[in-house]
Amino acid sequence: MPRTSLPVMMAALLMLSACDRDMMSEVGFRLPEGDAVAGRESFLYMQCNQCHTVYGEDLPAIPFEEPPYVTLGGPVTKVKTYGELITAIINPSHELAEGYAEEQVSQDGESNMYVYNRYMTVQELIDIVMFLQPHYDVVVPEYHYRVYPRR
Ligand code: HEC
Repeated sequence: MPRTSLPVMMAALLMLSACDRDMMSEVGFRLPEGDAVAGRESFLYMQCNQCHTVYGEDLPAIPFEEPPYVTLGGPVTKVKTYGELITAIINPSHELAEGYAEEQVSQDGESNMYVYNRYMTVQELIDIVMFLQPHYDVVVPEYHYRVYPRR
């Protein structure tokens, strides 16, 4: 059996993993533009308001359910990109919403949010994202520098 040198094997492995990464790249991913009004309707129809309020929107409460506890939109310090919003909806456990205690929004690392992938159409997804995105308001974080020495 021919002996393969370690550096050659390492190089081959590296090339393979680079290949893998490229195949799974999200570069070039683009959905068509959605309709925010239809998105609001889908949001209510799918009862996302069971767990969510949307900053600046007056959404009806769902009778006999606990009040919603995760706010979507509002002032954020970092742009919520289109890609992040889509990921948050179709892969909720990928990254949990910031600003909540883990045990409040997840269990064993899994988001408490339902996975809608078998029920939500692509059209509903892109409309909902179109509805949500303008509600995020990017603000520059305020830093309070302490000046030393303090007297
Ligand atoms: C049973 C409760 C529940 C329902 C219903 C629900 N969600 Fe969520 N959702 C959560 C929780 C809890 C989080 C925070 C944890 C996380 O990021 O997954 C969350 C997070 C999100 C986030 C990310 C927020 C952020 O700041 O990162 C988006 C966007 C979102 N949900 C959209 C939706 C949409 C759209 C629907 C309806 C199709 C929906 N959710 C239905 C519980 C729910």
